Amino acid sequence: MPLLEVRGLRAGYEGIPVVFGVDLEVGRGEVVALLGANGAGKTTTLRAISGAIPQLGGTVLFDGRPLHGLSPERVARAGLLQVPEGRGIFRSLGVDETLRLAANLAGLAKADLAERVEEAYATFPRLRDRRNQAAGMLSGGEQQMLALARGLIARPPLLMIDEMSQGLAPTLVADLFEIVAGFPARGVSVLLVEQFVGRALEVATRAYVLEKGEVSFAGSAATLAADESFVRSSYLGNVAAEEVAAARAEGANGHAPLGEEVKVTLPAALLRGLEERAEREGVAADELVRKLVTSSLTRAGGRARNGGRTRSTGETPTPREKGRRRGPA
Ligand SMILES: Nc1ncnc2c1ncn2[C@@H]1O[C@H](COP(=O)(O)OP(=O)(O)OP(=O)(O)O)[C@@H](O)[C@H]1O
Ligand SMILES: [Mg+2]
Repeated sequence: MPLLEVRGLRAGYEGIPVVFGVDLEVGRGEVVALLGANGAGKTTTLRAISGAIPQLGGTVLFDGRPLHGLSPERVARAGLLQVPEGRGIFRSLGVDETLRLAANLAGLAKADLAERVEEAYATFPRLRDRRNQAAGMLSGGEQQMLALARGLIARPPLLMIDEMSQGLAPTLVADLFEIVAGFPARGVSVLLVEQFVGRALEVATRAYVLEKGEVSFAGSAATLAADESFVRSSYLGNVAAEEVAAARAEGANGHAPLGEEVKVTLPAALLRGLEERAEREGVAADELVRKLVTSSLTRAGGRARNGGRTRSTGETPTPREKGRRRGPA
């Protein structure tokens, strides 16, 4: 059974599909590339898988269980995390704070927590040098490292990475791809959305190409890499970038209302710091936690911790939540 099995997925905005019947699979230990021109529907596909926008049709099975109708927090708890386009970094949170927060959200025990943070610094030494800096002060490349480190810290079975290399220097991109290639060895399979097609095909075992919301190629990465006309043409978008930007600016940016909530418990000091930062950034602390949860929580989470305070990602707690904390059984 594949780790992720997507069949006939339809997804879009305000009920109008822009992704029509996508089939794709990610196996355990695989890096799979999802490629395609601007506006082809790559991000929409990832968002529908992660529950950020509704699935309009088809099925998504993760580890054999349907994800249909689950909130992004629930999906994260099930072990499917997303490193979003634009990285989703919180500018006023420090580097170390971001990593510790992610480890806390994942419910790691204290000893494991320190070890995982240390491991993140070993993987991304530049983050260690910047550990006390606010994330917003980091370079674009360092922010991407932080987003990857945050996603990796909980060792999710599946990490979906959207446009990791956007805006980064080619040498840095090469380094990041090399690091991502090592994720499966840590138990983390990867679904990689990329426009750096050549690099993506080097680290991926299999690839899918989306064209106007439909899969136009599914097969081995080596086969696709050998198709020179594809590799060359893949840099030409079939939808003007401005058009995509305009659609996004209009709003409806794909965040479904939270259908279900997930409770997270954080050490009080960490939460206090978080609330202060959230206020400084002019965002609600709940909103901040909610976003962090979808990029850094896995099934390891949810354990109550002594001395911690609980944050709910939903508007109103419901009694039935209690027994369902750990996500799909
Ligand atoms: N929030 C939105 N509201 C309405 N339409 C949207 C929204 N986001 C994307 N779209 C439209 O959905 C289609 C697919 O967009 P999507 O962002 O999934 O493409 P993509 O393959 O990720 O492109 P890119 O490479 O530019 O990131 C496009 O036609 C786009 O205009
Ligand atoms: Mg995109």
